Amino acid sequence: MKACVFVANNEPMVVEEVTLDAPGDHEIHVKWKASGVCHSDLSIWEGKLPLPPGSILGHEGAGVVISAGANNAGIEAGDHVVGTFVPFCGECFYCRNGESYVCEKSQEIGMGRMPFHRADGSVLFGAIGGLATFAEESVVHEGALVKIPKDIALEEACLIGCGVTTGVGAVLNAAKVSQGSTVAVIGCGGVGQSVIQGARVAGAEKIVAIDLNEAKRAAASKFGATHSVDPSVEDPIQFVQGLTEGRGADFAFEVVGTAQLQRQAYDMTRPGGKCCLVGVAGMADEISLPSGMLTLLSKQVIGTIYGNSVVRDDFVRFVELAKSGDLMLADMVSQRIGIDDINDAFVAMTEGDVIRSVVIYD
Ligand SMILES: NC(=O)c1ccc[n+]([C@@H]2O[C@H](COP(=O)([O-])OP(=O)(O)OC[C@H]3O[C@@H](n4cnc5c(N)ncnc54)[C@H](O)[C@@H]3O)[C@@H](O)[C@H]2O)c1
Ligand SMILES: [Zn+2]
Ligand SMILES: [Zn+2]
Repeated sequence: MKACVFVANNEPMVVEEVTLDAPGDHEIHVKWKASGVCHSDLSIWEGKLPLPPGSILGHEGAGVVISAGANNAGIEAGDHVVGTFVPFCGECFYCRNGESYVCEKSQEIGMGRMPFHRADGSVLFGAIGGLATFAEESVVHEGALVKIPKDIALEEACLIGCGVTTGVGAVLNAAKVSQGSTVAVIGCGGVGQSVIQGARVAGAEKIVAIDLNEAKRAAASKFGATHSVDPSVEDPIQFVQGLTEGRGADFAFEVVGTAQLQRQAYDMTRPGGKCCLVGVAGMADEISLPSGMLTLLSKQVIGTIYGNSVVRDDFVRFVELAKSGDLMLADMVSQRIGIDDINDAFVAMTEGDVIRSVVIYD
């Protein structure tokens, strides 16, 4: 079977024939049907996120189970599944505390196995959560998959594997956006548009989409944004203050991944409001905040991985929201591509109007 191999930072990924181990106990063999291309894949490829080459990227996948070892997830052949990029053990302090999104075993579970074999005898792992959704098939831990209903298209369901759960979860689970509130969103890619959709579902009254790209701003209005700002033309902080009698947003989300924009999100948050950091900046980057005023203005700064989602419950909840039409997933798929086109999809992500490229497998 084919896999798109991440061979070196900033060098084109190479599509190769690889073989795959059979699943053992607590493992599942999945045939991916669709995989979104997320900015986090690009960040790893660029070396911004420290995960090594000699791996297969892709972590936003949906597929069909080919075979399953004995497992506690109730997963069997023929089931439809979505991969979780934070695989969970179900037993550690965090999993028992309803915080599986920070499971202490997730790295070990995800990267502890090298099930892919290349023609030269070397082995490969799935870089994020062990998922390797840029391969046609994968063998993953039972805690890396969630069974979903069969009456949702897999090319839409795959988006729940990262962008949708991250963005909608950030709104509903992490920030807990309230009805009638004003929400500002910096960065309107696949994750930012999901924040906007989540804010609409939460009943926010004003939703401000901030993005340099005109097409992203236009798309945002379809997903629920009531206002938009081009930050190269207008100061987004002043714009948000102008909408709120000078106060600032009740909730501001940074969904690009730079320390400078994280600070911008903080500055556009009103006193007593929440500044929610979703974008992932470089591991050596630091954010500076006005120390005294952070306390005196009672602002809350919160980070969130995977939208603080408990995937076994939240994936199914987001599938239901998609089926009812509250979450518009089909409209987020800007282009369907083949496995040979993933390098081009990285370029389109930064230079094009694409919200999500989705790899479609036969
Ligand atoms: N916290 C998590 O669990 C989690 C999960 C997935 C992705 N992420 C991170 O979220 C971020 C967004 O991911 P994505 O897949 O949506 O990326 P994307 O590339 O699709 O979107 C980023 C958007 O930011 C816009 N942008 C760039 N510079 C800007 C600026 N100065 N002002 C306003 N907008 C600007 C771009 O035009 C683009 O629309 C990345 O940092 C990614 O690593 C975090
Ligand atoms: Zn992602
Ligand atoms: Zn755990």
